[in-house]
Amino acid sequence: MPSGTLKGLKALVTSGPTQEPLDPVRYLTNRSSGKQGHYIAESLAARGAEVTLVSGPVNIPDPAKVTTMHVKTALEMYDQCLDSLKQKMDIAVCAAAVSDWRFREINSQKMKKQAETDSIQITLVKNPDILSTISKHQNQRPTLVIGFAAETEHVISYAVEKQQRKRCDWMLANDVSQDVFGADDNTVYLVKEGEVHAWPTMSKKAVAEKLANDIVEFFRVAK
Ligand code: CTP
Repeated sequence: MPSGTLKGLKALVTSGPTQEPLDPVRYLTNRSSGKQGHYIAESLAARGAEVTLVSGPVNIPDPAKVTTMHVKTALEMYDQCLDSLKQKMDIAVCAAAVSDWRFREINSQKMKKQAETDSIQITLVKNPDILSTISKHQNQRPTLVIGFAAETEHVISYAVEKQQRKRCDWMLANDVSQDVFGADDNTVYLVKEGEVHAWPTMSKKAVAEKLANDIVEFFRVAK
């Protein structure tokens, strides 16, 4: 395992899903396992970076040598990330599957069925975009901001569009039409400086190692 090459640099990584409560027993979430984000945090720490991981609820252990902050909702993740930016991060990797929406009203008691109605309407409101906020931050933008694009079709064109819209430096795109969630392998494309690099299918741990090596190279060249 390489080490020392990111010494002196600080990294913020988001990972896992978020959970958006409806009432004390129900929530909206997604199938992210957090494996990819956690491996990235671990790989950066293994190369000497000081890593803060902001994780939604996952069933995997906190990575070694990483400061892990546990959150549930997208708003909590947003607040925690903005707070962490004050430490002057050099790198941000947004691997979390943040819920795009949250319930407008959170009921303090369990919602009961109404006998006379077969359907109900519940309003969702948009969550803030953490990656965009980090990328567009006026004075605390990390030098290198990396996002993920989970797509089920037009993977490359959507990822290129997303990278430009969210103004991150690199975008890792993965095809989630296959069963990626919870799996150990991942097939990704790295969109970087106008080029698309197709990586062979490899383990999520190997994706994290390869990304960390590219990050090391980025900072070596930037010196
Ligand atoms: N992301 C974020 N905050 C959000 C939504 C997404 O930080 N509220 C980040 C993810 O961590 C990821 C990237 O944005 O790095 C792309 O997420 P994705 O779900 O693919 O994109 P969306 O913004 O949800 O776009 P769409 O729903 O159109 O695919």
